[in-house]
Amino acid sequence: MPNQIVPQQRRNLVLKTQKMWLTLYVLTDALKELGMPNFSGKLTEDEVTKIQAFIQGTADAVKAQMGASK
Ligand code: HEM
Repeated sequence: MPNQIVPQQRRNLVLKTQKMWLTLYVLTDALKELGMPNFSGKLTEDEVTKIQAFIQGTADAVKAQMGASK
C-alpha cells in the first residue's frame, strides 16, 4: 500500500534534515544575501555533518562546565 509508505518516507526525510540541519546553512545559498558563501563543492554533506557534531559536542561540553561551576 504505497499511501502508507509516504508518511514514513516523509518522516525519514524530516529526521535526516534535522540530523543535518547545518547543511541547510553551509551547502545552500540560504545566507548568500547576508554574505555567507555556499560551500557546496568545497565541503561534502558528510563533512558538514561532522562539523555539526563537533560544534554540538563543544556546546554540550561548555554547557556542562557552566552547570558544574554554579
Ligand atoms: C564551516 C564553516 C561555517 C559554518 C559551519 C557556518 C555556519 C553559519 C550559520 C549556522 C549561520 C547562521 C547563524 C544564524 O542563524 O544566525 C551563519 C551565518 C553567516 N555566516 Fe557562516 N559558517 C561558516 C563559514 C563562514 C564563512 C567562511 C563566512 C565568510 C566568508 C561566513 C559568513 C557568514 C555570514 C556573513 C553569516 C550571516 C550573519 C548574519 O546573520 O548577518 N560563514 N554561518
